[in-house]
Amino acid sequence: MPATVIVGAQWGDEGKGKIVDLLAQSSEYVCRYQGGPNAGHTIVSGGETFKLHHIPSGILYEGKISVIGAGCVVDPRLLVQEIDALEARGISTAGLRLSGNAHLIMPWHVASDSASERRLGRLQIGTTRRGIGPAYADKASRLGIRVQDVLDPKILRQKFETALAEKNRLLDEPLEAGDLADRMEECAARLRPYIADTSLLVERALKEGQKVLLEGAQGTLLDLDHGTYPFVTSSNPIAGAAATGIGIGPTRIESVIGVAKAYVTRVGEGPFPTEIEGPDQARVRDLGEEYGTTTGRERRCGWLDLVGLRFAARLNGMTSLALTKLDVLSAFPEIPVCVRYRLPDGTETDEFPAHQSDFHHAQPVYETLPGWQEPLDGSLPRAAQRYVEFVEEGLELDVIMVGTGADRESVITRDQPAYSRS
Ligand code: GDP
Ligand code: IMO
Ligand code: MG
Repeated sequence: MPATVIVGAQWGDEGKGKIVDLLAQSSEYVCRYQGGPNAGHTIVSGGETFKLHHIPSGILYEGKISVIGAGCVVDPRLLVQEIDALEARGISTAGLRLSGNAHLIMPWHVASDSASERRLGRLQIGTTRRGIGPAYADKASRLGIRVQDVLDPKILRQKFETALAEKNRLLDEPLEAGDLADRMEECAARLRPYIADTSLLVERALKEGQKVLLEGAQGTLLDLDHGTYPFVTSSNPIAGAAATGIGIGPTRIESVIGVAKAYVTRVGEGPFPTEIEGPDQARVRDLGEEYGTTTGRERRCGWLDLVGLRFAARLNGMTSLALTKLDVLSAFPEIPVCVRYRLPDGTETDEFPAHQSDFHHAQPVYETLPGWQEPLDGSLPRAAQRYVEFVEEGLELDVIMVGTGADRESVITRDQPAYSRS
């Protein structure tokens, strides 16, 4: 059975956790392919809220295998905390498997993430300060420490010595390799049983016909290569990276489900053409409870941007879309949707600008759709349905799920989406 990728179509926090949790019911494997504890995926089930950072959103179901793939970065201390928090709530982590090739986030990565943000001052990226950029940078420099290094305390100590010879020059308080290895041992012992050859595991599962979901973190516009650089994360959230991040061939992937909010949010700095000016910004934030899952920061809110979404559909080869949080728009009598950008030279485009200065200065051109101003439950009122169809027409893509509330049950599955019918 081929694998399915679930990918964020905007700047993260689209509701991937909830959609993956839903699809996980009928899957055997759920695998995270990139990112680390910068992610915060929320699942609301039976009145309980779970916030996952490293662990894939399939963990809430007993008997599923949850893989943290080679393309991820793992903060060992935070991962142990996450495992303990789940176990304390009666969620078994026996199905968790951790790639030995994933890289570890070390204290110097966290320190240098914060130091570089402070140094940048006004020009800062607004990172989650979880050490993500420095950990991926060390991976590319071949200075990284990998999960498999914790299997042998002697090797781990040697790796610390090599890394610290360089890193101590940057740290306010130098670290000693032996001390660090001793302090790490407790975490290392906890993580060892989860370490596995996850690439082989997933390949075997696919060959046996099991259903595999590949869960992205962050979102397309935060992609290191194709996003709004430098205001991006340091890995590749786009679907193409799912194969490398897990260690399977790209021919194993058949479908790519994008996840987008019915509006847009962004945490951290960087250009955002449809960011709302005026009181509706705070209104969307309050109604959508738009505060970061990982850092608690206020999320910036904007109207839906079909130019950005079309770009995401293209980059990911999306086969369908899940549109979340439509309920949040129920309060508005009219809802603007950005259909094109106006560039500084006066021309209009419906393609995402290839050059950053064009994007920084792009002005949204809106079409205004009528609101529905009634709560959403089992079925969509006519105007809400029209909103969804407008998105489908703009993207030439089916919307297969519509989110109508945070809870696991609050979703409408569209058996007959409009686009492929037309
Ligand atoms: P992720 O990082 O993409 O998994 O998304 P987050 O969990 O960071 O943020 C999405 C937020 O929206 C979470 O608080 C979810 O519980 C919530 N959410 C998801 N889908 C819906 C929906 O359809 N309606 C509402 N009101 N909230 C939703
Ligand atoms: P999920 O998986 C939203 C943003 C940060 C910052 C930029 C770089 O929950 O959607 P980093 O710490 O990665 O170096 O920060 O990326 N960012 C996210 N924004 N959701 C996320 O994850 C994010 N992970 C990182 O705010 O702008
Ligand atoms: Mg999130």
